[in-house]
Order: sequence, then structure tokens, then C-alpha cells
Amino acid sequence: MSGTAHAARHDAPDQPVFVGQVKDKLEALFPSYPTRMACLLPALWMVQEARGWISPDAIAEVATVLGLTPAYVRGVATFYTMYHLHPVGRHFIQVCGTSPCHLCGSDEVMKAILQQTGCGEVGATSPDDRFTVIEVECLGACGFATPILVDDDFHDSVTPERVAGVLARYP
Ligand code: FES
Repeated sequence: MSGTAHAARHDAPDQPVFVGQVKDKLEALFPSYPTRMACLLPALWMVQEARGWISPDAIAEVATVLGLTPAYVRGVATFYTMYHLHPVGRHFIQVCGTSPCHLCGSDEVMKAILQQTGCGEVGATSPDDRFTVIEVECLGACGFATPILVDDDFHDSVTPERVAGVLARYP
């Protein structure tokens, strides 16, 4: 089963995110957390779900809503590879490139992914806007090289030969 794609990323990127149902969803979280600051990660996730990426305007909006500074919000957002600070393709692929997987051939898996997606290079988005591919540190599945994440889906033991089958699940 395919995970969450970024279908809404071109949906009015300069408009506020925390209005209507999204605002209600965030405010419903407040009683479950000790402070508003503690809602920062889910708030960033809501922005990404709504827009596909987290723009500087969205960072400023999150800061205002949670009573933080934009610098603080940006500092947190840049710490995690799961948050996109620039537009990405409909599907976001993360490939482990850390030493144990590298020794087991993750570079060949990466080459196959870059070639078959049309991304060409790490960090790029394919010309058809379908995929963005990045290399990440250990995904916690070192015994199942090469692990990759496509959106929210985990795939283990990916080989160059299996890449086409995995990609075909993400139109
Ligand atoms: S080194 Fe690749 S999953 Fe741990």
C-alpha cells in the first residue's frame, strides 16, 4: 500500500494554513500537551500535509500560532529530514547511505533509483514532478540493506533489481 503523497503542495502556498479544519485540528491538540511549544512537531507536520512543504511564510505562521520565534521554528524544522523546506515531488524517497548499508551496496540502489526516477542526482526532483530523492543516515534497519522510505512506506532489502517494482507502486 502506498503512503501519503504530497497531493496538495501547490494549493495556495501563500495562504495561511491554520484556518478552518486545520486550525481546529491543531487547537484540539493543545489540551494534550503541557505547552503550546510542545505542539511544534505536529504543527509542522500539518503544514506539510496541507502544502507539501514548509515555506518561510509557514514557519512564521507556526511561530505566531505557538508563540515562538521564527528562528526557533526554523531551527527545529531544519533538524529533521522528514520536513521539507522546499517544494518536493509527489513522492519523497529516502535512501540509507550510512556505512553498513553502503558496504552492502546502497550506492548501487541509489544509482538505480536516480536513473529510473529521472531525478539524476541526489536531492533533485524528477522532471515529471513525481519523485524527490535524498540520502539519509541510518534508518534503523541495518540488517535489511538497503532500506528505503517512500513517503510513509518502509521498504527493506531493496536491490537495484527491485527498484522498478517499488517505484511502480507510486504513480
Ligand atoms: S546503516 Fe542503513 S539502516 Fe542502518
